[in-house]
Amino acid sequence: MKVSGKIALVTGAAQGLGKSFAAALLKNGAKVLISDVNSEAGKATLKAFQDKYGENNVMFVRADVTSQAQMEAVFQQVRERFGGLDIMSNNAGIIGETREVWEKTVDVNLKGVIRGTNLALDLMRRDKGGRGGVIVNTASIAGLMAVPGAEVYTATKHGVIGFSRSWARSPLCADNGVRVNVLCPSFADTALLPRGGSADGDVGKYMDEHGVMSPEYVAEGFLDLVQDDSKNGAVLKMGEKLGKVYVEY
Ligand SMILES: NC(=O)c1ccc[n+]([C@@H]2O[C@H](COP(=O)([O-])OP(=O)(O)OC[C@H]3O[C@@H](n4cnc5c(N)ncnc54)[C@H](O)[C@@H]3O)[C@@H](O)[C@H]2O)c1
Repeated sequence: MKVSGKIALVTGAAQGLGKSFAAALLKNGAKVLISDVNSEAGKATLKAFQDKYGENNVMFVRADVTSQAQMEAVFQQVRERFGGLDIMSNNAGIIGETREVWEKTVDVNLKGVIRGTNLALDLMRRDKGGRGGVIVNTASIAGLMAVPGAEVYTATKHGVIGFSRSWARSPLCADNGVRVNVLCPSFADTALLPRGGSADGDVGKYMDEHGVMSPEYVAEGFLDLVQDDSKNGAVLKMGEKLGKVYVEY
């Protein structure tokens, strides 16, 4: 898919990987709705993007991916103000393992991606007046391996991969011109990482093994999954030392 002139929606786009995906799309000529639960950071990112890419090419809508009503409002905005949807990035995610917050990790990382995919499909489906499109869901290398100490996070990311690959093979997506791909980054330099780029125990060991990528590098893999029309159901793992590798099933 050629990005220029297309309409995109990115969740968790106020900072980190989502911000770098939105920047890559804007740089290539798309109009982008950035959405995030953090309105302060979202507004700052909006201002920076408007200064660089033009006032009318980007908008920010505050929304929590765990809220059906808020997410419906986001999709309504992208339809009414930009005129549809071609590219969806379900990217918002958290790490939360404790007894108090593990359910929120499932709500954001897995249920949020399911919600965003369902709503994107509603807008993209040709049989409902859409024009097809591509959905890229952010999983993690943790979706492809066991990560002691991050059991819930790892479960959600395995879930994102299975969910996305299943949609990619569905007749509904094939008949409606929708591709669904998954990005599985290893460590990238965002607020999600343990501060200072180092950690104890298994996570520290994995960080040494894999290295730490810049968000801009991860955005290159994201763009590959958007632009390459031959990729559907593709799972792209990326790492500073690994580079970009498509997973074979
Ligand atoms: N940074 C890494 O090393 C790494 C590696 C693999 C996968 N990932 C995945 O990449 C994605 C982005 O993470 P990041 O590293 O940019 O982290 P980040 O913390 O920098 O950014 C995540 C963004 O998501 C937003 N967010 C959190 N909960 C939300 C909610 N309920 N609704 C809407 N927005 C919400 C946050 O406000 C934040 O802006 C996540 O899915 C994460 O699991 C990150």
